[in-house]
Amino acid sequence: MQYVNDTIERLAQSGQHQLADYVTKVTPDSAKEMIIDQIKNIDFDSLAIMIDKYVLNFEDSKIPSSIEPAKYYSLDGKGPTGEWDGAKYKALGEEIIRASKVACFTVAGGQGSRLGYEGPKGCFPTSCVQNKPLFEIFAHSIIGSQKKYNAIIPWYIMTSPLNHDATVQFFGEHDYFGLDSNNVKFFQQGVMPSIDAKSGQILLSDPVHVATNPDGHGGAYQALLVSGALSDMQHRGIEHMSYFQVDNPHAMVVDPTFIGLHAHAPDSSGEFSSKIVAKSSWDEKVGVFCNVDGRTEIIEYSDLSEDLAKQLNSENRLAFNAGSIAIHIISTRFINKIVSDPDYALPFHRANKKVSHFDLSTGLGVIPEENNAVKLEKFVFDGIPLASNSIIVETDRVEEFAPVKNQTGADSIESSRLIQTERAARWLEAVGVSIPRDQDGNVEATIEISPLSATCVEDLKSCDLPASIESGTTVII
Ligand code: UTP
Repeated sequence: MQYVNDTIERLAQSGQHQLADYVTKVTPDSAKEMIIDQIKNIDFDSLAIMIDKYVLNFEDSKIPSSIEPAKYYSLDGKGPTGEWDGAKYKALGEEIIRASKVACFTVAGGQGSRLGYEGPKGCFPTSCVQNKPLFEIFAHSIIGSQKKYNAIIPWYIMTSPLNHDATVQFFGEHDYFGLDSNNVKFFQQGVMPSIDAKSGQILLSDPVHVATNPDGHGGAYQALLVSGALSDMQHRGIEHMSYFQVDNPHAMVVDPTFIGLHAHAPDSSGEFSSKIVAKSSWDEKVGVFCNVDGRTEIIEYSDLSEDLAKQLNSENRLAFNAGSIAIHIISTRFINKIVSDPDYALPFHRANKKVSHFDLSTGLGVIPEENNAVKLEKFVFDGIPLASNSIIVETDRVEEFAPVKNQTGADSIESSRLIQTERAARWLEAVGVSIPRDQDGNVEATIEISPLSATCVEDLKSCDLPASIESGTTVII
């Protein structure tokens, strides 16, 4: 029991008096030990500093004065170093994929609270005709790409303690959607205690459990190291990770042109590259790529002033229009650099959330109606300024961005399915299939192209396709 008493003392010394008192009094001893086991490894000195900085004395982040719009490889063929040759970089990227040097990496540890779906978000039925879950869409895209490049593309999936078992079970129940299970690796990210926003005290979710939240997608760096996923990649000869989030069914699991640019563009250090889409409006809620003191950074939409967000460039377009879609190529070399040097420690960000908890003073459960707690999270993109030369590549919104985040409205399943059909229609039109559209150009059918049939327009050329699609029909290719 000495370790119990020691931990209680450390709790009290770091300002967590409420929890220290509670644990001292709680009975039986097994309950005491259970709580202590959950917190004994916390670095209380660091936690106290973080609570002071991010919870009790939080100041809004300040935008640096030297901020400029970031330059990027644009869809119209202009790049920061002049015209760029898409075909050349595509061929270079294909070479890297064929040599089995690329892995997919999906962050799937989030809580998905906005979607309100019971279960891991990756299990959410998403494709527009067959209701395929997100994980299945990615699995089939990987299978399609492996065939195309005659390569093995291992898939690393980051879960969190909240959804790990359910995720692994889902893959097992579906026989890994046809993938070789040896090439699908799950690993868990860490958690942080959820903190009461007013008092800075650690919350309990029930009498014997600490309320925790996953430590953000930026927890990936440490989790890749600690879980052994990074060494597994290196053992397999993987040099680059194709990073995408679990909620974007249009993410290209491997994009040869993007990989080619990342690895070979003259202005890329081959460490951390990103894709962007032009913002749809000045107030679209996406982070924006900027240049700060010669380094590339993402500024969160909430941190960009209205004046800057509305600023126009000489072509009368939004100056700060490089919207992040959370698609990156990150090299294993870069991950090693970040995790092995404390100078590269990523900052935390605070998120105000509603966290149900057990009130230590009344002994009652509380379901808050307003945000009552602070979650501390790290962001993967805070790695970008730590790369010596990070490049950005523009892509088409419909092609690669159909996120499912909310129950209704923007970025919902409804909006995602419309984009899915639009992309399928464009691909079919590109190979000569006639598509019914109304006066406004909206597709008058629902179309799903399985990634097992095609992962891009070119693949459709070898498919058996109808000459036209009838209005009002539902089609699977
Ligand atoms: P979001 O920022 O959309 O968060 O995550 P979320 O948890 O999925 O959803 P909300 O905000 O609660 O509604 C973007 C991506 O980052 C992953 C998510 O799984 C998603 O793929 N993520 C987020 C993690 O892997 N870990 C985290 O701690 C947070």
